[in-house]
Formats: sequence, structure tokens, C-alpha cells
Amino acid sequence: MSNVLILGAAGKIARLAEQRLLAETDAQLTLYLRRPERLGNVAGNREKVIDGDTTKPEQLVAAMHGQDIVYANLAGANIEEQATKVVAAMQQTGVKRLIWISTLGIYDEVPGEFGKWNHQMLDGGYLQTYSAAAKVIEASDLDYTIVRPAWLSNKDEIDYETTQKGEPFKGTEVARKSVAAFVTKLVQDPSQEIRHSVGLNKPNTDGDKPEWY
Ligand SMILES: NC(=O)c1ccc[n+]([C@@H]2O[C@H](COP(=O)([O-])OP(=O)(O)OC[C@H]3O[C@@H](n4cnc5c(N)ncnc54)[C@H](OP(=O)(O)O)[C@@H]3O)[C@@H](O)[C@H]2O)c1
Repeated sequence: MSNVLILGAAGKIARLAEQRLLAETDAQLTLYLRRPERLGNVAGNREKVIDGDTTKPEQLVAAMHGQDIVYANLAGANIEEQATKVVAAMQQTGVKRLIWISTLGIYDEVPGEFGKWNHQMLDGGYLQTYSAAAKVIEASDLDYTIVRPAWLSNKDEIDYETTQKGEPFKGTEVARKSVAAFVTKLVQDPSQEIRHSVGLNKPNTDGDKPEWY
């Protein structure tokens, strides 16, 4: 049994991952989020809720004690600051395993017309800050997995393939449910994808942009 700290637990992927982790693992979950009253009912025997902000080091450090895995499902223009504080809190408390949700495009790894379109859509701050956050994590000694999903859909499907850092990104889209399934797989076997940065896409979705654009 492992103890998993979910940072940004109200996030859309995090909510799906929480349900899968409850159903498919025996992990104890700590849900760390702002305004926790949003969550509604939680599984009292498996879940603990912390009202926390990832820019607050003392809250992060308190939440990290006794955890085996940190799953960070965060967002925002201050994502580099959040990464820096999460890494520091993990180092201070000796927690080694980090699953970090990032985005496609942080290494300029998206080829072709879709790569150009992705730049048009995501330049102007987003890609730069997500890239800087990934650098903070990769420069640490943590056992991280950075997850780089394609454009996210809310389709009710689990269908994905992966690419590694250094390989061209494949496809244009992936379902949040697929990302949640990948996170669950890593919690089930945390020895997978250590110090890897993994692209996640739905197979056979190559194109100039996601189908809904
Ligand atoms: N949309 C796409 O197509 C796409 C593609 C690839 C990657 N991504 C990225 O994938 C990530 C996860 O996606 P998602 O749909 O699950 O995102 P989401 O629903 O926006 O979840 C992100 C969560 O981060 C939390 N957060 C932000 N700052 C925080 C702080 N200081 N302290 C605590 N929590 C904080 C937010 O909390 P609050 O609710 O309190 O604000 C929010 O619940 C995001 O970073 C997104 O940018 C998106």
C-alpha cells in the first residue's frame, strides 16, 4: 500500500485519477487543493483532504510527511514557482517519487504543421513557463516522471501511446481519462518511467490540429 499526495486535486485530470486510484489500487490518497469544499464527499477510509496552496512551502512540507508518491496536477502562469516549491518540499521531506503533468511542446518536440499551430496557440507565456517548470524538475535528484499530454479531450476512452523525450511528438489529442489511466499505472508500479519525460497521445490522431478545431 502506498501513500499518494495529489496536488491540485480539484483539477479535471486529478478528479478522474482519484476515482481510478480508489478503484484500481489500495493507495491512501491525500487530496491537496484550494477551496476543498468543492470536492463534496470523499472516501473517508482512503482519503484525507488538505486545504493547501502549492505556493505555500510550510503547507507543502506538512502535507509531504509520510507520502510515497507526489502526483502534481497543477496549472497557472506561476507553474515554475510551483515546481520549485514542490521540488524543495520533496527534498526537505525525503519524498522521491514525483508524477508531474506538463504539456506537449515544452521541448519544441511537436513536428510539422501541428507543431506550428501548437506554437501559435501556446506561445506568449504558457509554453515558456511550463518548459521552465520541467527544467526545475529535471535538474533535481527526484525520481520524476514528467507527463506531456497532447490536446486534452473529455472523451470517455482510454486509448494512448507514448513517446519519450528526444523523439518527435505523435498525434494531436488524448483524453483526460487516458492521462488518468497512465497516472494510475505509474502508481501501481512506480519503478516505471523514472526520470523520463513522456509524451501521451491517442494513436492515429496525426493532423494539422486537434479534430475539434
Ligand atoms: N487543455 C489542454 O489541451 C492541455 C494539454 C496538455 C496539457 N495541459 C495541462 O495539463 C494540466 C492538467 O490539466 P487539467 O485539465 O487537469 O487542469 P485543471 O483542471 O486546470 O487543473 C489544474 C489545477 O491546478 C490547481 N492549482 C493551480 N495553482 C494552484 C496552487 N497554487 N495551489 C494548489 N492548486 C493549484 C488548480 O486549482 P484551482 O481550481 O484552485 O485553481 C486546478 O484545479 C494543466 O497544467 C494543463 O495546462 C492542458
